[in-house]
Amino acid sequence: MADIRCGITWLPLAAAAAVLFSPLAAQAEPKNAEALKRFVHQDCGSCHGLTLKGGLGPELTQEALQYYDRDVLSGVILDGIDDTPMPPWRPLLSEQDAARIADYLLSGEMK
Ligand code: HEC
Repeated sequence: MADIRCGITWLPLAAAAAVLFSPLAAQAEPKNAEALKRFVHQDCGSCHGLTLKGGLGPELTQEALQYYDRDVLSGVILDGIDDTPMPPWRPLLSEQDAARIADYLLSGEMK
């Protein structure tokens, strides 16, 4: 009986640990909208510029990406571009996150 109660007590902690360590998991947990925006400006922005107007990587504005279809764009984000510094983001982003980032970029709402 004591063992069962003990297990229940630890469950939320285990869940919290799973969220904290999700970047290490094969499939990342989806992020909320604010976290996702921060991620795009800080992590993508480190190469594409904090306002996404270009740096080492090209600008990620709506105009620059207008010929991309949402799924192709998500694929570029998840798998990177071979033989360039553009890394694959699959370890840090879920497919849902990548699709939402693609939507953000294509909608021009990323400021
Ligand atoms: C380590 C630097 C770096 C980081 C971080 C980075 N990128 Fe890139 N990215 C690049 C480079 C360099 C290119 C250009 C590759 C080439 O020469 O085709 C690129 C290309 C792209 C392209 C294709 C652009 C086009 O005009 O075809 C997209 C889309 C893109 N990155 C999105 C992202 C997103 C979204 C993130 C964050 C999740 C991100 N990148 C993070 C370096 C980076």
